[in-house]
Amino acid sequence: MRISRAGWALMTALSLFIVFVAAKYLTFDPSVYFEQQREIYIDRALPLGLHVTGAIVALAIGPLQFATPIRRRLPRLHRTIGILYLLGCLAGGIGGLLLAPTAHGGPIATAGFIGLAVSWLVTGTMGLYMIRTGRVADHRRWMIRSFALTFSAVTLRLMLIGYATLSAAGLITLDFTTAYVAIAWLCWVPNLLIALHFTRSAKHPQPRESITV
Ligand code: HEM
Repeated sequence: MRISRAGWALMTALSLFIVFVAAKYLTFDPSVYFEQQREIYIDRALPLGLHVTGAIVALAIGPLQFATPIRRRLPRLHRTIGILYLLGCLAGGIGGLLLAPTAHGGPIATAGFIGLAVSWLVTGTMGLYMIRTGRVADHRRWMIRSFALTFSAVTLRLMLIGYATLSAAGLITLDFTTAYVAIAWLCWVPNLLIALHFTRSAKHPQPRESITV
């Protein structure tokens, strides 16, 4: 799977925009918190800080790993950014798991965020394992899947903007909590399915007639 320059630029711009939006949380000023969860976040500043710090790092530097010139010409830099990215996923994932039980919307939203956090931790770990065992193509596949999940922070917020716009225009009558519960799943499952589609193994079994006996 190769990404075009325009695609990379759009992915990077959207990622940096969400990094900028989310960074406000690191002021720990309750007035910037997600309104419905303000009281919960005041009580849970530690997991929130762990989650947002780690996730911001992963989202900010993840796109650099797709830049071919860095991968080809500066492999050490690629490795250093990769380590930081995985540490970001680890902190963000553990923080996400800790925040999930109190997520807005109840158990279905909680399950969605737990699914996302577990998939995020698993794909990052697999990416690391593959490179440690010298399987470069598989490392690439798992890291693409990992970043597709990191990018769910972008899809979640784009979906919330879409919901707010359609609601304000009177085009949908869904209440916010129902929409949020659906988005807790929709922000990552399609990302993962698309990444799995584009990273499926190139090794297909040969058709019977072409096998030489
Ligand atoms: C990919 C795995 C991720 C998981 C499992 C995850 C999980 C969660 C959970 C459970 C919450 C609490 C939601 C609630 O209270 O209703 C949350 C909130 C939050 N997350 Fe993540 N998250 C992930 C990625 C990210 C990324 C990459 C960012 C970086 C920008 C991010 C930034 C935030 C922020 C700022 C909040 C506070 C609430 C808000 O403004 O939406 N998350 N996350």
